[in-house]
Amino acid sequence: MKFLVTGGAGYIGSHMVKFLLSKNHEVTVFDNLSTGKLINKNKINFIKVNLLNRKKLDQLMSKKKFDAVFHFAALSIVNESEKKPRKYYMNNVLGTKNLINSMIKYKLNNLIFSSSASVYGAPKTKKILETHQMKPISEYGKNKKEIEKILAQIGKKKNFKSISFRYFNAAGADESAKIGENHKPETHLIPKILNSIKRKQKKVYIYGNSYKTIDGTCVRDYIHVNDIVRAHYYGLKKFRQKKCILNYNIGSGKGYSVLEIINGIEKVTRVKLKIIYKKKRKGDPPILVADCKKIFKDLRWKPKYKNIDKILLTAWQWHKKPFI
Ligand code: UFG
Repeated sequence: MKFLVTGGAGYIGSHMVKFLLSKNHEVTVFDNLSTGKLINKNKINFIKVNLLNRKKLDQLMSKKKFDAVFHFAALSIVNESEKKPRKYYMNNVLGTKNLINSMIKYKLNNLIFSSSASVYGAPKTKKILETHQMKPISEYGKNKKEIEKILAQIGKKKNFKSISFRYFNAAGADESAKIGENHKPETHLIPKILNSIKRKQKKVYIYGNSYKTIDGTCVRDYIHVNDIVRAHYYGLKKFRQKKCILNYNIGSGKGYSVLEIINGIEKVTRVKLKIIYKKKRKGDPPILVADCKKIFKDLRWKPKYKNIDKILLTAWQWHKKPFI
């Protein structure tokens, strides 16, 4: 089959590309190369494009009949979205609208959209179901919610099918250790600590220790990047339905506090970390843990990486490589 992966040089997108190639599909990547790294260059059709350039997008979309589009291209740093709301709106909302409109123009009907647990805001229940209210507390979460709303409206009116996957905290790296998580600047907990270990600084900042959680630090649901990618692939079967406007949580259903993650990293890397407490970060909900009943049942998907130490180990195996 023929697939388009936007953001195919990014963290999750590059894992999706590797997975699709391993299944012998034809893969086209659109990426502006603002972050990330392009791999398998000789096995994919790569086009450098900014989704805000509608004219170029239309030219490109008119040429190929993609069976589905995986849309990963986005800015994804929650804290940065608070400081630069316009930049986030342009990239995440207007860029995605361009993609959707271009798809509709050329009768490409199947879209898999990278949404996020941040659409929910501060949860009202211990575990979050897809039916939980959507009250995002960050600009990033608002961007994702807006696109989900547009997809639902278009899906009712036109023959346009979409699946929005609401990721909890993507973590880990492919076991080949050739691709992994590498944002610039790095703000994510796990890669930030691993970078610090690699640079022999061995320190970690904890943003807030007075949350109402087991140890006062924020709790998150970490899910291995290749489990996320597999869920996307399983999702494709839903496009056989006449109508398809779906959303699914992708998580493990288990939460770990920042301190538990630090302990896990110390175990895996055999390095003792110096902890420095800082004030809370704006836009951080105290606990985010997925209820994944819906995706388990509907897509028959379950995470393969159930052990957090194993996830952390795959991240470390990639991070310790000299080229990052
Ligand atoms: N944290 C620290 N110190 C750090 C970095 C992070 O204490 O140096 C804490 C944060 O406060 C947060 C937790 O570690 O409580 C995880 O933070 P990350 O930055 O790794 O991830 P976020 O939970 O902020 O966000 C991630 C993705 C979002 C997505 C969200 C969904 O980046 O795109 O998960 O759960 F929306």
